[in-house]
Amino acid sequence: MNFSYRLGVLFVLIGSVGLGAYFQSTANAIPAHSLPPELVPVDTNMHDFMEGMFQSPYRRLKEAIASEPKDNNGWKAIRSDLLILAEGSNLLILRKQEKDQAKWDEYGVASKQAGEIAFKAAKQKNFSESRKAYESMLIHCNDCHKAFANGKHQLAP
Ligand code: HEC
Repeated sequence: MNFSYRLGVLFVLIGSVGLGAYFQSTANAIPAHSLPPELVPVDTNMHDFMEGMFQSPYRRLKEAIASEPKDNNGWKAIRSDLLILAEGSNLLILRKQEKDQAKWDEYGVASKQAGEIAFKAAKQKNFSESRKAYESMLIHCNDCHKAFANGKHQLAP
């Protein structure tokens, strides 16, 4: 090994340590982008939210899940609306209430969980399980409506 070869190796080593430090420091310089985003609901009231997000999927689903789907399109329709309602129930939890927040969150979580079970059963094309979980989801919808909508909007499965 001659001297200039060793010198070359030394420079490569110093260079890579330097580059590593450079990338490390640029990585540290962008903390704002690496923070998890804060989820802020769209600025509107609960009436608009339920009418805009939940009413149409509920109406479609009620029809689609009345009897076992005949074909793949029927299953697809059920899966889609169950997923919309289950994920929509997650979004409910972002909506802060003046009182009884814990109860509100409980209904939202229960509705999401039942919707998720119904969705998974629909993925397996298991109609009776999906239908059962759908009915229990609606009980949770209605429980929240009893507590937070003066008992209005009691939805039939
Ligand atoms: C955490 C509470 C909560 C849950 C869970 C909930 N809702 Fe609601 N929902 C409300 C409230 C509050 C209203 C009344 C809004 C208003 O008009 O002020 C409402 C109203 C509605 C309405 C009437 C919309 C209109 O035009 O006035 C429909 C339809 C509806 N919900 C569907 C559902 C369905 C379907 C589910 C379950 C998948 C569900 N909701 C779950 C709180 C909830």
